Amino acid sequence: MDTKFFTPNQIDQAAQAIRKGELIAFPTETVYGLGADATNEAAVKKVYLAKGRPSDNPLIVHIDSLERVIPFVDNFSGKMAKLAEHFWPGPLTMVLPVKKGSISASVTGGLSTAGFRMPNNTVTRQLIAKAGVPIVGPSANSSGKPSPTTASHVYHDLNGKIEGILDDGPATVGLESTVIDLSGDIPLILRPGVITKSQIEAVVGKVEYDQHLVKESETPKSPGMKYKHYSPDVEVQMIDAQKENWQEAIRYAKNQNKLIGLIADASILKRFQTQVDATYSLGEEHQMDQAMQHLFAGLRALDEKVPQLDIVYVQTFSEEEAGLAYMNRLKKAAAQNFF
Ligand code: TXA
Ligand code: MG
Repeated sequence: MDTKFFTPNQIDQAAQAIRKGELIAFPTETVYGLGADATNEAAVKKVYLAKGRPSDNPLIVHIDSLERVIPFVDNFSGKMAKLAEHFWPGPLTMVLPVKKGSISASVTGGLSTAGFRMPNNTVTRQLIAKAGVPIVGPSANSSGKPSPTTASHVYHDLNGKIEGILDDGPATVGLESTVIDLSGDIPLILRPGVITKSQIEAVVGKVEYDQHLVKESETPKSPGMKYKHYSPDVEVQMIDAQKENWQEAIRYAKNQNKLIGLIADASILKRFQTQVDATYSLGEEHQMDQAMQHLFAGLRALDEKVPQLDIVYVQTFSEEEAGLAYMNRLKKAAAQNFF
């Protein structure tokens, strides 16, 4: 199978493929998703196969309107309705209790809940509307690789395994959605994202983090968070923003004749670019939103350098607000290693 590219003018063709049970990668503001008809069990199973994803890791159901979530949820009201009103369309996934039998076990991984999200990308909302069904969508990377923020990242990982890619340019957020579980009394953040705890608390009151985000030894409640993630092949180490030990790290690697890559903001790159073998800019200094947008693309770009780099050093940010999401992904890519 040759994977086709579709432009936003070809949504009809992409929607038709979804209706036929084919896989179509779709753009969102966070990362590209791997889409299939959520009501077609055979199509959903193909998603796991294409990604090489463990079958106990449930999929997010993407919707284009509130009407499309109502058939699955007993009573769409209270906190979920408030959060939907504030943050949808947008980068928030809500894990909600679902009506028994309303959604296939291949989507939920056999859980009594499912994750729902209305993406802030008009092309994809039109795709869902034209397909006439909700669309499941894990990030459209091979399992374990950094999530794709461009159509060409998707092509790199999944060419030949999926019918097509709907290309709407680079993702603007760049990190996956905040996942919040509303099935208990107190809302629980299972995965941090650009929508932060304090923003959510401003709408619905008290919110907690799932224990594993606080204590590394705890098992995450979200099945997906336990798997190895976001990891390039090249070794990645974090450079503590406070310590400012770029020079020391570069010298250390040079002494071992290592080929070095740097992922950092433009002002840091300006100081050290002549001393290293490759760089990727996170954007302007102190711009968290730009850093989030470029992190995965940077990890992918430096992972593919020829000749292969030996070490990539990446800038950290303080773990406040959206910085928590950035650091959550970076720590996984670096297997927790600081220089
Ligand atoms: O931004 C995003 O969320 C992207 C775009 C494409 O929408 N999608 C995405 O999907 O990141 P995925 O499958 O890579 O991550 C979904 C996460 C996983 O960690 C999964 O375990 C968790 O959400 N999840 C899904 N359904 C769940 C449920 N019922 N209970 C707990 N966690 C769930
Ligand atoms: Mg993913």
